[in-house]
Amino acid sequence: MKKTLNNAQDNPMDNIDDWEDNLLERYPDPEETTKEKEEFRNYVDSERLDTVKEFYKVNHQFQTYDFVVEKEKEFLQFNKREMSIWEAVDFLNTLVDDSDPDIDLDQLQHLLQTSEAIRADGHPDWFVLTGFIHDLGKILCLFGEPQWAVVGDTFPVGCAYSDKIVYPEFFKANPDATNEKYNTKYGVYEPNCGLDKVKMSWGHDEYLYQIMKDYLPEPALYMIRYHSFYSQHRENDYTHLMTAKDIEMFEWVKKFNPYDLYSKAPVPPNAEELLPYYKELVTKYLPEKLNF
Ligand SMILES: [Fe+2]
Ligand SMILES: [Fe+2]
Repeated sequence: MKKTLNNAQDNPMDNIDDWEDNLLERYPDPEETTKEKEEFRNYVDSERLDTVKEFYKVNHQFQTYDFVVEKEKEFLQFNKREMSIWEAVDFLNTLVDDSDPDIDLDQLQHLLQTSEAIRADGHPDWFVLTGFIHDLGKILCLFGEPQWAVVGDTFPVGCAYSDKIVYPEFFKANPDATNEKYNTKYGVYEPNCGLDKVKMSWGHDEYLYQIMKDYLPEPALYMIRYHSFYSQHRENDYTHLMTAKDIEMFEWVKKFNPYDLYSKAPVPPNAEELLPYYKELVTKYLPEKLNF
């Protein structure tokens, strides 16, 4: 099957983060006032949601078991670029945002808002650092990867696709859905085999986890690796593949999610003022250069 589509099909969204509008519709902030909700609805225009739907259509069609194996082979050699965290942040920030510049914040601002909200709640410094770096894997886009292989909800491949995944009907076009090796409840896996043995759809979560796995405490690694796995951390629909340890660690993933989804404030954080704190934090946990 042809995996590279034309550019419009590969990248239907104007902004790589537009799928998060759909997330906020699915999982609205429980602390938001009705007025804020109305404002949000005005901002989410239907055209943008249409492109998100297009995005999930190709995502669900092409994220197969074999596709993930292929991408792991390609990207887990980490031979693309050697960068410091700061170079990676600058690089990520070159992702051009075609949509409304008044509302959409750049990538650095999303990272800082997430991490600052975590810091304001008095969490440990490695949790703050996790917020600050959690989306750096999106640089996959700058290596020419299509949106559907970088962002969006992630889910296990190699076993039946849950109907709790957004737009489950689009999996009908995925060849694994009719392959009996992959389309049963457990597929290629054993009951409660542990998520470490389960291949997730390929994207920015798994990629960054693989880069960070030697440097951060285990809860931080779970948060990075599974932050887009909504069909588990919100819907609990893959518990049958998890160990007791995974279930315990998912408490951290659940704790992280609201900071990622609901920390978008209209007033951007002052990056320059915050920089000294983050420089020190990055130096405490991470080496000077990392291989991407
Ligand atoms: Fe993310
Ligand atoms: Fe994020």
